[in-house]
Amino acid sequence: MTATRILTGIKTTGTPHLGNYVGAIRPAIAASHTPNSQVFYFLADLHALIGCHEPAKILQSTREIAATWLALGLDTDKAVFYRQSDVPEISELCWVLNCMAAKGLMNRAHAYKAAVAQNLEDQQDADFGVTMGLYSYPVLMAADILMFGAHKVPVGRDQIQHVEMARDIAQRFNHHFGETFVLPEAVVDDKVAVLQGLDGRKMSKSYNNTIPLFLAEKPLQKHINKIVTNLLEPGEPKDPDSSAVFHIWQAFANSEQITYMREQFAAGIGWGDAKKQLAALINAELAPARERYESLLANPQLIEAELQKGAVKAREYAIPLMQKVKRAMGIAPLC
Ligand code: TRP
Repeated sequence: MTATRILTGIKTTGTPHLGNYVGAIRPAIAASHTPNSQVFYFLADLHALIGCHEPAKILQSTREIAATWLALGLDTDKAVFYRQSDVPEISELCWVLNCMAAKGLMNRAHAYKAAVAQNLEDQQDADFGVTMGLYSYPVLMAADILMFGAHKVPVGRDQIQHVEMARDIAQRFNHHFGETFVLPEAVVDDKVAVLQGLDGRKMSKSYNNTIPLFLAEKPLQKHINKIVTNLLEPGEPKDPDSSAVFHIWQAFANSEQITYMREQFAAGIGWGDAKKQLAALINAELAPARERYESLLANPQLIEAELQKGAVKAREYAIPLMQKVKRAMGIAPLC
């Protein structure tokens, strides 16, 4: 039986936060240990260019995200871990797919539609600030996915449409040029928690309510102290299920610790005390990885070496696939 191929990309914008960790990174690293599966995880730095034109930020984010996955124990002998831009065949495939993807399909992409809607609301030209990169974002994503024959693509809900577009484009290609691409499927894991942020809404950079992943102990405590609570005093019973403090606790605690904290809430634990315990719990899980993270960032050549190793592995798939694609389309040696 051939192994199930699981592939996902991480856009290199920003610094990873606890929500990324709980919602994406932790489950992805766990999935990399599942038997009979092969995982492809990559840094989507070409996708990052669409929204960010500041080179220093792209580089820093690439460093931080790569160091994060390595520090958290991604086994790069098992997983193929690479940087999108190190596999030039992806850009090549992107062009080919551009020639198969219907413009009408791209018109329906949520991200593009949202940009247009915002422009119209602001009484701007519909396409104000919309680059071709943004418009054809789903085609590059289709190239990422189809290049490696991914069966399953774990994503957040906002990305399901993109994976369906990849499937659509693959079908169209296969129909016209013969079976070439595996049809991918989006996987949205309902069991994976959407972590609440400081204000109780989903933790997200766009809400400015995040807790960065690898804060040292003191700043971690400071951030946790900013989690919004109500005015109940120590000694007054509190409702765990409406509290972001308890919600985040659950994402890091085992079942005994969850029961324990429920009891503490019922017994009227003070917010300050609960937040101290929460910081200690998170710190205990992350401190060893944080040390490895700091040491990787201090030695970027170690990160680079891992990415180069990944690029070699990735291109072992990409080069032959690209040859097959081009041949199928009539781009081949003449004799
Ligand atoms: N678009 C994804 C995001 O913003 C990142 C991404 C790029 C991706 N290429 C991918 C995800 C391929 C899955 C598969 O989160």
